[in-house]
Amino acid sequence: NLNSQNCRIRSYCVVGVSRHNGTIVFIEENFHGDLVKLAQSWDPILTANEINIINHTELGQDGFFFPGFIDTHIHASQYPNSGLFGKTTLLDWLNEYTFPLESKLFDLNIANQIYNKIIKRTLSYGTTTAAYYTTIHLESSKLMARLCLKYNQRAYIGKICMNQNSPSYYIESSARESIDTTTQLIDYIKELNDSRISPVITPRFAPSCDETLLSQLGQLAKQNNLPIQTHLSENVNEIEWVEQLFPKNSNYTDVYDKNGLLTQKTILAHCIHLNEDELNVIRNQKSGISHCPISNSCLGSGECPTRKILNKGIDIGLGTDISAGYSPSILEVARHAHMVSRHLSKHENNDSLKLSIVECLYLATMGGAHVMGLQDTIGSFDVNKQFDSQFIDLTARNSPIDLFPWEKQTEKLEKWFFNGDDRNVITVWVGGVESGLKSKPHL
Ligand code: GUN
Ligand code: FE
Repeated sequence: NLNSQNCRIRSYCVVGVSRHNGTIVFIEENFHGDLVKLAQSWDPILTANEINIINHTELGQDGFFFPGFIDTHIHASQYPNSGLFGKTTLLDWLNEYTFPLESKLFDLNIANQIYNKIIKRTLSYGTTTAAYYTTIHLESSKLMARLCLKYNQRAYIGKICMNQNSPSYYIESSARESIDTTTQLIDYIKELNDSRISPVITPRFAPSCDETLLSQLGQLAKQNNLPIQTHLSENVNEIEWVEQLFPKNSNYTDVYDKNGLLTQKTILAHCIHLNEDELNVIRNQKSGISHCPISNSCLGSGECPTRKILNKGIDIGLGTDISAGYSPSILEVARHAHMVSRHLSKHENNDSLKLSIVECLYLATMGGAHVMGLQDTIGSFDVNKQFDSQFIDLTARNSPIDLFPWEKQTEKLEKWFFNGDDRNVITVWVGGVESGLKSKPHL
């Protein structure tokens, strides 16, 4: 359970945020004084013009700021399919549900509908940063970049690369075409020149890319110092398939490693069935893992050994993996991480495998920041970091949580962890600026 030793709770806190660049300038804890004087002490000339004072002390213990959630793995294009997976597992799910939907986003009008909705929905659940996969289509991927800026969400935008073992209606014709469109997206996002968004090199997964494409994507990432995202070791049939397709490599992880795709800025989704050698390679390359427990349950992929990964010192965060995962909420994903760790603990008769609430909330924020290589910029409230935040009100209208007068602050947080949802998310900020919550879907 929560206690003040493993979770930093700061009461009566006032935060000053630079209006110029969105960074946190000061944090005043236990503040009961005069806000105007406080502002003047930081900003004597242009009081409250340079620095935005964010203060909700009047809400007491039932309202609090929490760092914005970080979704380290989400397929924006698959949003219409969330909840639709039937009895499928990964490989038949891709063919029956996923490729037919993704191929439709060639149509910018359809992409526009889907991308508007997923950004608004994730923001409404407090996600301030997301590592998105789009589709193989350049124009709709550009649109996604523009929409993230419009709604004010920090994002990695990954145009999917796939040039083999894919249906004829949804495949890139060559490594050349895949590299060309990826390069065009990189140039486009560079021209938008906004630190909130970055392109991310995105080979879908080893089976859908030939060696030429994999190695050229590795080079492209290196030349442009870009993050990389892909899937790894999700499903046992997938792993067997990779071993058949890449007989020269010692294992699945080695396919990525030999092609320069394991870097400090690589996000590897799932990582359920890795052996010791593979985990060591990932640790040595300082790559990060996106734990997607909802997806892993929906597709029956298995249970990610989260404690083992943490003990190895590998960076790990959480991913919704929409739409293999049904929920756009990172808080919901954190709950599932908590539950799955209990199942693992029971199966392996090892109590230490259980994750605590605080550990799950860490994965949802700071863990994700490390995985995305943004640990100096986001993930916690510290001076010089961006003010990426959500304001949670446990007494919000229609709140799903009932409070009782005798409850301690830490107990209220524990209740929020298990029962909170978007109704408790009142305001979201990215870089100190409110994000488009007036367009909150349920309002
Ligand atoms: N492996 C290859 N493509 C996908 C995808 O879209 N979702 C998931 N969960 N795994 C994949
Ligand atoms: Fe995925």
